[in-house]
Amino acid sequence: MANLFATKPLSLLSKEAHEEGEHTLKRSLGPVNLITLGIGAVIGAGIFVLTGQAAALYAGPAVALSFVLAGITCAFAGLCYAEFASIIPIAGSAYTYGYATLGEFVAWIIGWDLVLEYAFGAATVASGWSGYLLSLLEQLNLRPSPSLARFTTTYGNEIYLYHGKWQSAVALPSSVPLAGLPHVTGVFNVIAFVAIVMVTAVLVIGIKESANLNSAIVIVKLVIVGIFLFLGIGYLMHHPDLAKMNWHPFIPPSQGSGHFGLQGIAAGAASVFFAYIGFDAVSTAAQEAKNPQRDMPIGILGSLVVCTILYIAVSLTLTGLVSYKVLNVAEPVAVGIDATGITWGSLLVKIGAVFGLGTVMLVMLLGQSRVFFSMSRDGLLPKWASDIHPKFRTPWISNIVVGTIVAFLPALLPIDKLSQLVNMGTLLAFAIVSAGVWILRVRQPDLPRPFKTPLVPLVPILGIVSAFYLMFNLPALTWIVVGVWLVVGLVIYFGYSTKHSKVQKLPAHLTSGRG
Ligand code: ALA
Repeated sequence: MANLFATKPLSLLSKEAHEEGEHTLKRSLGPVNLITLGIGAVIGAGIFVLTGQAAALYAGPAVALSFVLAGITCAFAGLCYAEFASIIPIAGSAYTYGYATLGEFVAWIIGWDLVLEYAFGAATVASGWSGYLLSLLEQLNLRPSPSLARFTTTYGNEIYLYHGKWQSAVALPSSVPLAGLPHVTGVFNVIAFVAIVMVTAVLVIGIKESANLNSAIVIVKLVIVGIFLFLGIGYLMHHPDLAKMNWHPFIPPSQGSGHFGLQGIAAGAASVFFAYIGFDAVSTAAQEAKNPQRDMPIGILGSLVVCTILYIAVSLTLTGLVSYKVLNVAEPVAVGIDATGITWGSLLVKIGAVFGLGTVMLVMLLGQSRVFFSMSRDGLLPKWASDIHPKFRTPWISNIVVGTIVAFLPALLPIDKLSQLVNMGTLLAFAIVSAGVWILRVRQPDLPRPFKTPLVPLVPILGIVSAFYLMFNLPALTWIVVGVWLVVGLVIYFGYSTKHSKVQKLPAHLTSGRG
């Protein structure tokens, strides 16, 4: 009978990290680098796409408050991530932390759940990317013909040609008679499919993660957001009546089922939570931090604070520039800039988004491949998932299998459904990590902890409660799909993993949680 609570000895983790060359990483990252790393992984489809949907469908201008709520939830989980990262300062993930401290079963659940965060997350961003690319092409007068347009959106989605742009019915003003417009029904989003295929190809060939490249991309993203705020706020200052009109009422009256009202702010938070995902990437750089004890929390919380401020500013500006009712579009930030009449502004935003979202997909699929690689190395997944290509030195089979499956997701499923699954999966991981910090404090109070989450158990409890609060604000269908996902995970765990686990084969004294 497998010991579900067997932990992976820390000594073994360090040894493996050594074998994989992780110890060659230099401790070169200071607090600013870590904050930049977090911002680079975080800013993406959430702010560029989902803000518009959340405002139009759930929160109205109060989507700014949704960002505050989601940011607070992330702060609690972030503090817990920081403690785990400091206990196990090797390039890892919540899966590794879970295995070393809480045991194999919890680790499996986290690892399986992280697929929802990383793989489905990449798919969500691909969907956002295709929206911006299409809009960019349309702005350059490269509009797809009806026979091609059906391959630019998801299966079954009806799109209409209006003002030179292919748009869903929900994005059109209600006064527009749909009957007279050219329209097609979506078959398969080839653009999103190709995006994932390209990113997968880059991962198979191998990328050198370089701090310089990351900094350059962070700058591109910040410049784009900066241009939007500069032009948008400048315009609103000259047209204060526009903002007054669009922000009124700031919290639109409730229409029931999480649409508007106070409940809508929570539903909006559950939706825009996606915009914050990725800050945990900072925790994976613990081993490269010069002073992890001081800088991990600075990196995690610092990037969260910067992003929260930017997100609040962007959402307020956006809902001031245009009525929240027209923001359920593929490229809301560009639509906001269009309202200022400055066409080069929206062109820049679209170009920036296309590059910026590309790197988020890369980071997410890289995270996915690392998790599957680790799980396979531990014997919890078949060996092919950690097979290294002789020339490229990358887990190529795993990358290709995952990439191929992931590519179909944004091609067939709409962005809102995908992002809801990602949010549910990530919130569950946050809750487990928060609980883990608390459990470990009780079970192993003397373990050296270079960084300690403050106010334990209060912060972990708030982390768990706030994560579940947002989860309860996601649609019932999301719960069902994630439930099925976890059941499939359990079948694989008990059917395959327990029989092949390497940790299960170690002497019991090594896996009792004190290794
Ligand atoms: N936070 C990332 C994004 O918004 C995942 O794209």
